[in-house]
Amino acid sequence: MKNYKRLLQYIRPYLKQLGLAIICIVLAAAANLYVPWIIKDMIDQVLSDKNMALLNVIAIGIVVVFFFRGIFYYGQSYLVSYIGQKVIIDVREVMFRKFQRMPMAYFDRHQTGETMSYITNDVAAIQSALVDQLIEFVTETSILIGSIVMMVYLDWKLSLLTLVIIPLVGQAMKIFGRKIKRNGTVIQERMADITSLLQESISSIRVVKSFVREKYEIDRFQRQNELNFQAAMKNVQLTSLLTPTVEFLAAIAVTFIVWFGGYEVINGEITAGALIAFLTYAINLANPVKRLSRLYGNLQKAMAAVDRVFHIIDLEETIRDKKDAIELPQIQGHVTLDHVTFEYKKGVPALQDVSLEVKPGEMVAFVGPSGAGKSTIANLIPRFYEITGGSIAIDGHDIRDVTLASLRGQIGIVPQETMLFSTSVRENIRYGRLDATDEEVEAAAKAANADAFIRNLPQGYDTQIGERGMNLSGGQRQRMAIARAILKNPRVLILDEATSALDTESEKIVQKALDDLMVGRTSFVIAHRLSTIFNANQIYVIDHGRIIEHGTHEELLEKGGLYSHLYNIQFKKTEA
Ligand SMILES: Nc1ncnc2c1ncn2[C@@H]1O[C@H](COP(=O)(O)OP(=O)(O)O)[C@@H](O)[C@H]1O
Ligand SMILES: [Mg+2]
Repeated sequence: MKNYKRLLQYIRPYLKQLGLAIICIVLAAAANLYVPWIIKDMIDQVLSDKNMALLNVIAIGIVVVFFFRGIFYYGQSYLVSYIGQKVIIDVREVMFRKFQRMPMAYFDRHQTGETMSYITNDVAAIQSALVDQLIEFVTETSILIGSIVMMVYLDWKLSLLTLVIIPLVGQAMKIFGRKIKRNGTVIQERMADITSLLQESISSIRVVKSFVREKYEIDRFQRQNELNFQAAMKNVQLTSLLTPTVEFLAAIAVTFIVWFGGYEVINGEITAGALIAFLTYAINLANPVKRLSRLYGNLQKAMAAVDRVFHIIDLEETIRDKKDAIELPQIQGHVTLDHVTFEYKKGVPALQDVSLEVKPGEMVAFVGPSGAGKSTIANLIPRFYEITGGSIAIDGHDIRDVTLASLRGQIGIVPQETMLFSTSVRENIRYGRLDATDEEVEAAAKAANADAFIRNLPQGYDTQIGERGMNLSGGQRQRMAIARAILKNPRVLILDEATSALDTESEKIVQKALDDLMVGRTSFVIAHRLSTIFNANQIYVIDHGRIIEHGTHEELLEKGGLYSHLYNIQFKKTEA
């Protein structure tokens, strides 16, 4: 209920339209109340008294009333849909903004399909709750209240009898409503599971095929599909049980009323016309009661979606600007890590007591076995994760005291595999600095050794990349990433195994571009191949989340520790 009130906050900007819409709905619904009244007048006056003038009035009345009903109907549909669409666009945007701000740790823990399902399925469920159900709710409530008023006016005793039975129907509604809400959550979750599975197995189709795991994937999918089927059928069963039950109760109510009303007419307490009008209202009551009960079920389902949406909106953004965060001024690139500790999962340290200092323009390298924590250190400098102890400072500013935008804006990253967007080559490079001119983009591409291959693409710099366009090779993608970094022109550079996924040939080309990029910048280099870091100012050897030794290449070789061991392995391999 609290969340429904919050949803209403999103409707607040459209209160004027909403007010107008509700007036339209009520007036359109009121036309329905007019029909039994016509029947009463026809039976009691026109037919029994042969009243020609009244007949004419009734005829004109019908035409006028239904003409206006049409207009109000148009007004209600248009206005309510307008509000629904507006609210949904707003909610969708709020969610998208939220996901953009969520820390990396969130995306580590949640599948893409799941996240997408929140923005598509759940938001759509809210829309139908707003549009269809708001109209139905106001219409049926108006008809319900109007009918009851008319009935009491016509015959209060008969009304009393009718109104005793309605609460019974209401009770049945409640019991089913609760079950359906619970089931609605299950269906949405099953659907999210399917979406994730789809996303995963289609985007990893190469892996699937290369391991000949098609059958395995199909089995997995079948299981999920079956679970979804069961959840959906359970829901269908519940909803289809609810409708006949409520209808049967309504039929019993009508039987009581027909008998007692006939008895009153025989005794001369009310006219025949009034009874027929009353019965028409009473029968019409069944509709709003039935629809409101179905609405109740739908609303519960929508509420499950609303709850999930607000749960997302309320998630804590663990990494955000402090209230008094300052802009990090143009940096020189003096980076210090002071007794840094970090854990991805509580109680499982990924880094322990890491201290190091890099002077502006220097190059440091991290070396160590896979899983040692090299990437983790690299991820902490742009504050993708929050350290749990110690501090990291750039030019003397603790990175937690400056804004994320000013911090990350001055750090360039070339990862192991580069994501490109489904747009042109030019726009992909321009991602590094949005206001770069075409000349600057091309200059960056030249400096990254990418200009030549780009010019050989079918449409040169305007070639589309991605799902519907060109697929670039790993080496080409890395050079695009380097061009991006050149455009960004950061003082601090992080190269996390930037050439590890490449073949020897493209590795040479990319390494050349990287060497040029590093000149004059503070660089953190994680490299598989030790030959690329021989000339680093400092090499840190990482193992099990700790720095176990550091020094220059020569110093470390002399020490005869893990570094010289790793060196010997590679060196011998190359010799062989
Ligand atoms: N996003 C993450 N969530 C949880 N644990 C992680 C995450 N990334 C890395 N780890 C764990 O932290 C440790 C260090 O990983 P990483 O820094 O990627 O190693 P390296 O880059 O040296 O190969 C590993 O045990 C790894 O399993
Ligand atoms: Mg790594």
